[in-house]
Amino acid sequence: MKKLRIAVVGCGRISVMHFDAIFLNDDKAELVACCDNKHDRADKYAKKYHVKAYYNYKDLLDNEELDAIHICLPHYLHTVVAEYAFKKHVNVLSEKPMDINYEKAFHAVAIAKKYNVKYGVVFQCRYNDSFQFVKKALVEGKLGKIISAISILTWSRPDEYYSESDWKGTWDKEGGGVIIDQAIHSIDMVNKLIDSKPVKIDCHMANRGHDIVKVEDCAEGLITYENGVKYSFYAMNNFGDDEPIQIKLFCEKGKAVFSYDDGYIYFNDGKVEEVHQQNVRSIEGGKDYWGFMHSKQITNFYNAILGIEELENSGEECLKTHRLICDLYKVGRGDL
Ligand SMILES: NC(=O)c1ccc[n+]([C@@H]2O[C@H](COP(=O)([O-])OP(=O)(O)OC[C@H]3O[C@@H](n4cnc5c(N)ncnc54)[C@H](O)[C@@H]3O)[C@@H](O)[C@H]2O)c1
Repeated sequence: MKKLRIAVVGCGRISVMHFDAIFLNDDKAELVACCDNKHDRADKYAKKYHVKAYYNYKDLLDNEELDAIHICLPHYLHTVVAEYAFKKHVNVLSEKPMDINYEKAFHAVAIAKKYNVKYGVVFQCRYNDSFQFVKKALVEGKLGKIISAISILTWSRPDEYYSESDWKGTWDKEGGGVIIDQAIHSIDMVNKLIDSKPVKIDCHMANRGHDIVKVEDCAEGLITYENGVKYSFYAMNNFGDDEPIQIKLFCEKGKAVFSYDDGYIYFNDGKVEEVHQQNVRSIEGGKDYWGFMHSKQITNFYNAILGIEELENSGEECLKTHRLICDLYKVGRGDL
């Protein structure tokens, strides 16, 4: 079988997860190039993996015969680069979020459709054993309907996290702070499980501990859905450590409590079921809170390009979470 020709665009922190996943999928894909406008970063991985370095994404897409690119760039560039690729008939896997703007993400989905290419968005936590365990219990009706939900994220992003970056902590390039960067995963998981349309959004945000940036480092709110579910969230990155996230779903037949690695269901009849992440492995340069499920999502993305499987986290489907994230900012900033 001819292998898919892949390039990674953006060779910063998260790119290690993508390189790792490409090599784990080496039965169907091969890395042929990497690109970063910081030459030393592109050169580092080009040398390490014996592939060509590019310093401009247009040069890459104009000169290489590619089947797909992985976008690991600052948020404001995601759909700009994705659309350039779609127009060259190249499939795209974009890191979250889709963009910093809803309309641009919506437009990118339309362009991908027009050029008949796959557009995947990374939400790797949906592949965690704990999330799959709770989702299965809901789909099978074991938990009954969700009545209410809560997610809590208490993490740490020291000032250096922002000062060492030329885009993190900015409204125009990152599009926000703790919501769009860190809490997006927990909000996505809960939103996906509730599977209804938000009809009322309350959101308060503040910058309480990072004088170095203007974006929010703390947010809380309540989202009410068309199906009646009420979802409260709290997120902050002033804690000093990255605690496991906490998600609780209060349901008709019990309560589901899960984090990234562990999941418990306490049924009303006293029965308890639990799951713990299997096959945990660490990846050089990776962070525990990223997990290691990129490879699983990337297998699905490649299989979808090859026509073996349906694309799971498609741009079209991920617009639901993206709309919610953008609306949280509109409400939190007083624009809605
Ligand atoms: N899924 C996850 O759990 C997870 C975790 C961390 C980061 N991310 C996402 O990954 C993306 C990248 O985040 P990061 O932490 O790796 O950031 P980063 O700043 O470390 O990496 C971004 C890279 O893009 C490069 N770049 C900037 N402009 C460019 C351009 N015009 N052309 C080519 N390269 C350019 C930068 O030089 C940098 O090396 C973001 O979308 C972020 O939200 C996802």
